[in-house]
Amino acid sequence: MSNVVIVGLQWGDEGKGKVVDLLCPAFDAVVRYQGGHNAGHTVKFGDRHFALRLIPSGILHPGQECVMGNGMVIAPNALFEELDELHAAGVETAGRLHVSNRAQAILPMHKALDLAREGAAGKEKVGTTGRGIGPAYEMKIARFGVRLAELGSPRLEDRLRTQLVRMEPELAALGAEPLGEPARIADQCRAWAERLAPYLTDTEHLLHGWLEAGRSILFEGAQGSLLDVDHGTYPYVTSSNPTAGGASTGSGVPPTAIDGVLGIVKAYTTRVGGGPFPGELLGSEGEFLRKRGNEFGTVTGRPRRCGWFDAVAVRYAVRLNGAELLALTKLDVLDGFDEIPVCVGYRCGGELLTEFPSCLETLEEAEPVYETLPGWKRETAGCLELEQLPDAARAYIERLERLVGAQVAVVSTGPRRSETILPPNPTLDRWTSGRLAEVLAQRDA
Ligand code: GDP
Ligand code: IMO
Ligand code: MG
Repeated sequence: MSNVVIVGLQWGDEGKGKVVDLLCPAFDAVVRYQGGHNAGHTVKFGDRHFALRLIPSGILHPGQECVMGNGMVIAPNALFEELDELHAAGVETAGRLHVSNRAQAILPMHKALDLAREGAAGKEKVGTTGRGIGPAYEMKIARFGVRLAELGSPRLEDRLRTQLVRMEPELAALGAEPLGEPARIADQCRAWAERLAPYLTDTEHLLHGWLEAGRSILFEGAQGSLLDVDHGTYPYVTSSNPTAGGASTGSGVPPTAIDGVLGIVKAYTTRVGGGPFPGELLGSEGEFLRKRGNEFGTVTGRPRRCGWFDAVAVRYAVRLNGAELLALTKLDVLDGFDEIPVCVGYRCGGELLTEFPSCLETLEEAEPVYETLPGWKRETAGCLELEQLPDAARAYIERLERLVGAQVAVVSTGPRRSETILPPNPTLDRWTSGRLAEVLAQRDA
């Protein structure tokens, strides 16, 4: 058995949903460990299309166990909406979706505060998804949060009052509408608690049991390493730890039980929301990538900012996560270019930087230094072997591997399962417990 973390190595939307779905046949369970419905994970196969926000992508595989871990922030109404959509699409969830009773609840005032702050922030705004993610994590860390298990508790009204006392003055100062009485919010929470009850459990115990039984677990990261609250482009980040260490704290599975980290990277760079983006392409090349890559947010529909592949940022993320293997996605989006620049350093105040800087001002000033690689000007979608790729595409992949210090074990050339190259790789073989044949069979189905 093997337990593997899938983590985004850029600013999110790297294609984590696609890769998790693809590898599912080699694992017994899929676990989300952080974030909430700020995530948008797209899964496509045949003529089916799903956009999952909260529920692990493993849910689309009949019989697969799915866990929403203690590190998540969960808006019950958003969860019910997603469950309704899945049930309407014929996906069964009963008995195999397990939600941590320690996960924090996103409450209506968290969303109100997120929106009011962003509305008042002007140019400096983070560009959040407006889902209440930040305020919910704030309350957790301040020890005033409400765990899902407490939504039906007799102490709930007191807990809500404690939060409201802190948030109402800020909301009023920002000109937001008053939120109403804690008793009214408590009634709503009690109704949620009733519908949540069948899903809630001590997911730590469940996971420990599975580990002891030799089952294999796949961890599905949300967001990306550069949005990590500790290691990302703070304060333009999300409020959790998407990096691989978060898989342990956000699930209760010890770090010693994790066998490997698969980093997901796009063949170029995107970012949605505010914050520094060295080398952001503001002209026609950025527009081209956005159109061809369909770079519009899964959750908010916002256009994603685009740039060439940034090897400085990805090398940093590879090291942060200990990502030995990579899945390189959206290679097909680069099919039409004569030449493809790759950022290999930043020039800043006359200095050449080759390590990702921690200082926001340095990042804002950073001028990318590019190395230019030849394009291939041929369609790559549909290639199932590395050997079928144009020579220049293979050279592009090999150059990225050297620049970032990790090996590409999955190449994605389209959104569907069938559009994936899985070259023979002993490490991936080990991580998939010898079940790679099942992954390939699903790809080719
Ligand atoms: P996630 O948040 O990391 O799961 O990524 P998203 O689902 O938000 O965004 C990735 C987008 O790219 C989705 O629309 C996918 O269907 C799509 N996608 C994934 N892999 C590929 C690929 O190799 N080529 C193309 N053209 N699209 C892809
Ligand atoms: P997936 O899982 C891309 C960004 C927001 C904003 C910042 C903070 O689909 O890759 P938040 O609402 O989390 O407080 O917003 O983080 N962001 C994402 N960007 N993909 C995501 O998720 C994101 N989740 C949050 O745009 O800049
Ligand atoms: Mg996404």
